Amino acid sequence: MIPLRGATGVRRLGGGTGVDADRLLSRIRDYGAMGRDETGGVTRPGFSEADRIARSRLAREAREAGLDASVDAAGNLLIRRRTSDGEPARGPVLLLGSHLDTVVNGGTLDGAYGVLAALEVLQVLTETGTDTPFEVVVVAFANEEGALYPQPFWGSMALTGRLAELPAEPVDHQGRSLREPLALAGGDLSALGSAVWSPDSLVGYLELHIEQGPVLESGGQTIGVVDAITGRTVLDVEMRGEAGHAGTTPMPLRRDAMSAAARAVVATEELARERELCRVATVGRLEAHPNSPNTIAETVRFTADLRDSDPTRLREAETALRRELDGITAETGVRAEVRPAVRVEPVSTDPGLREAISAGADELGLPWTVLPSGAGHDAQVVADIAPVGMVFVPSTGGLSHVPTEHTDPQDLLAGADVLLRTALWLAEPDRTGEER
Ligand code: HGY
Ligand code: MN
Ligand code: MN
Repeated sequence: MIPLRGATGVRRLGGGTGVDADRLLSRIRDYGAMGRDETGGVTRPGFSEADRIARSRLAREAREAGLDASVDAAGNLLIRRRTSDGEPARGPVLLLGSHLDTVVNGGTLDGAYGVLAALEVLQVLTETGTDTPFEVVVVAFANEEGALYPQPFWGSMALTGRLAELPAEPVDHQGRSLREPLALAGGDLSALGSAVWSPDSLVGYLELHIEQGPVLESGGQTIGVVDAITGRTVLDVEMRGEAGHAGTTPMPLRRDAMSAAARAVVATEELARERELCRVATVGRLEAHPNSPNTIAETVRFTADLRDSDPTRLREAETALRRELDGITAETGVRAEVRPAVRVEPVSTDPGLREAISAGADELGLPWTVLPSGAGHDAQVVADIAPVGMVFVPSTGGLSHVPTEHTDPQDLLAGADVLLRTALWLAEPDRTGEER
């Protein structure tokens, strides 16, 4: 066990305090190139080819570092130390990680930063021979965003046993089955049960992430200690009308799915903007069929994304939207089918992990503040089975899910150092109740 509190066992590397600055920053740069699209953004949706390339590269780098890398049936990539006899270590686990997949045309940091920093922490602990009363395991959760296979939080929902909420036969937006791409990524749709962790196997989960909002930058803080993560409901809506000739079909006879969907899109935004039933609401994705300029749209499929920190308000907002859709279908004769793609409750992070994170930031003399997360994260799913904590670093201009997503490299290193210090702080005796 290394002497803790300013642990001397940890190397002072690369100008940073603890993590190897060059190794971490060059990895962030390299993985940011995987899935680079023509606009300079990153399009690396879960279970896409680019996602597979990134994940197999991470597994290879972990093995080259002497660590064990494995993929569970849900496609989660798990990295852990090997014991002296070369076997993957087993024991109560402190899980560190995030996701490697991205939205369409997103940035290089959302998710990937947290995974690469977690690997860096595990490597430093291993290279310095730092012993801990728990096993530190790194996870790259599969398909957090749901950008191609529209089931956000796929990997974390599998790991926490929420299999009943996952589609039995998951398909992408074009109806193509997940079965084969999941197998190519090392998973097995028929064996998802084997990916489930029991609630007592985790001492905690820590996720380092960019804030994706303006608070830290405008407040001049380097570190965010997250106290709550927003609740989120995503409804998959299909409006079904009747195709017809745009020039010859009399207006009274039309059942125009596009104009009905347009009314539903505006009604979705009004839930938050005018009616203040929930904090935010938007329709980010919409597909029309046959999507032809001179054909009345037959079907329009879109996603309504509603968020609030209060689960009751979230449910009421969903009820209000369903009522709006009923009204639109009654007036237009266009039918609406509504499927909940995801419903995740708002969660509070663990006070003990918040204390550990702020202690880590204090040790490094970094200015920090407590703030809620407006974005959803795997941490809010893992909260079902373990205490969770989240560390934020500033987002330049508060931007994310766009190619210009950026965080100052010094802040990226500071966040990784805090993640390392938090793990070391938790490793002190009687901090997690796990004694070796
Ligand atoms: O949408 C979100 O809040 C996250 O980026 N998955
Ligand atoms: Mn995201
Ligand atoms: Mn994310």
